[in-house]
Amino acid sequence: VPGGEPMDEIKPTKKPSRDYQALSSTPWDLFAALYARRSHRKYLPVPEDPSFVADLESFLDAACDARGASRDSIVAVTGQQAVEDVKRAAYKGMAGKINIWLGKAPLSAVLVADLPSEDVHAIRPVELPKTVMAIEDAVLWLTERGLGTCWLAGVSEREIMKVMGAPSGRSVPSIISIGKPALEPKPASYSGVSFQMMSRRRKPLEKIAASETASAPYCPPRLTACGFAAASGGAEEMVRAIASKSLPTTAGGLDLAIDACLEAARVAPSGNNAQAWLFVVVRSKDRLAELAAASGAAEPGSWKAAVVATGQGRLLGKILLDRPFWDIDVPIAMSHISLMAATAGYLPQVATDIDEEKVGRLVALPSGMRVAGVVALT
Ligand SMILES: Cc1cc2nc3c(=O)[nH]c(=O)nc-3n(C[C@H](O)[C@H](O)[C@H](O)COP(=O)(O)O)c2cc1C
Repeated sequence: VPGGEPMDEIKPTKKPSRDYQALSSTPWDLFAALYARRSHRKYLPVPEDPSFVADLESFLDAACDARGASRDSIVAVTGQQAVEDVKRAAYKGMAGKINIWLGKAPLSAVLVADLPSEDVHAIRPVELPKTVMAIEDAVLWLTERGLGTCWLAGVSEREIMKVMGAPSGRSVPSIISIGKPALEPKPASYSGVSFQMMSRRRKPLEKIAASETASAPYCPPRLTACGFAAASGGAEEMVRAIASKSLPTTAGGLDLAIDACLEAARVAPSGNNAQAWLFVVVRSKDRLAELAAASGAAEPGSWKAAVVATGQGRLLGKILLDRPFWDIDVPIAMSHISLMAATAGYLPQVATDIDEEKVGRLVALPSGMRVAGVVALT
């Protein structure tokens, strides 16, 4: 069996695909946050904390810098009254009906994705994926601080924009609730049972990942500990490393790095937990060069491997809740992949401004699937 683990061990849950910590001589901190994160819908009231707000703003600066996102595309709503106003607006009317639970949730903050409408509704948004990656970076950063979050796309965009005084021409594709979780995640122990019990189910790696082309399922490799030292540090350290292009560790084996990146994508949140995505690993030299060219890589020679991140496109005739959030879900997973690459000693280069048709053809992507971006490990 590839990977040295019996296949029936790989259950469709958020249970780790393998014991990643055993493969590193140093604490592989990012995994703890990835596994501890879950969508929280019950919160406890807490007093306002000005130093938290300052830290959050400073993290958002760093994340937007690392992702190339416009800083004003993420609004951190803090302060009790402002949070209350946005929250109430969010679940008003039909559009927010599924999130009526917000009414009973004492949130401490809300992140609002605030983007040009034109971009959000474009066939291929440019700003949206960058903003989404920076927001997911923040979700992991918040998780590390013991805070609960939930991506919310089923909200009343119009009402939110009204209370925020957003000018016309802007769009709010999603907001994130933030608060002290009523269900405290047990810190650190990601091989323990606590987080598994409260996690939503996940597809196994070989169902969401492929090698070279979309139709060839990924085979988890056999891996052994061989002196690899994962970068310790969480979302903040990795975001800053990506922004400054200097990694806090040296590269370990590529097989392990890729496997860890796919696992990071696997446990990412997605709308309705649909996981309607496929991550295609490209390693073959010639194909990698072609992919780098189609992705507009500045230094194609530095690419050691790449993950083509794809998702089910909008289905014609399906709107609102049935709409697959490929343009949000897949960039969320790209945040996870790239942060994980950094912990494994590979500087991630995320390309979203790509020749989608060429990239899709290269990995033989079935029609209806969209390429959100390419994450290169360099
Ligand atoms: C783009 C997006 C939109 C979402 N919208 C909502 C929402 O409106 N209401 C809600 O309760 N959860 C929402 N979620 C949370 C998902 O249901 C959740 O991530 C998924 O079920 C996986 O569970 P987990 O996050 O606990 O791992 C959304 C998630 C994403 C990524």
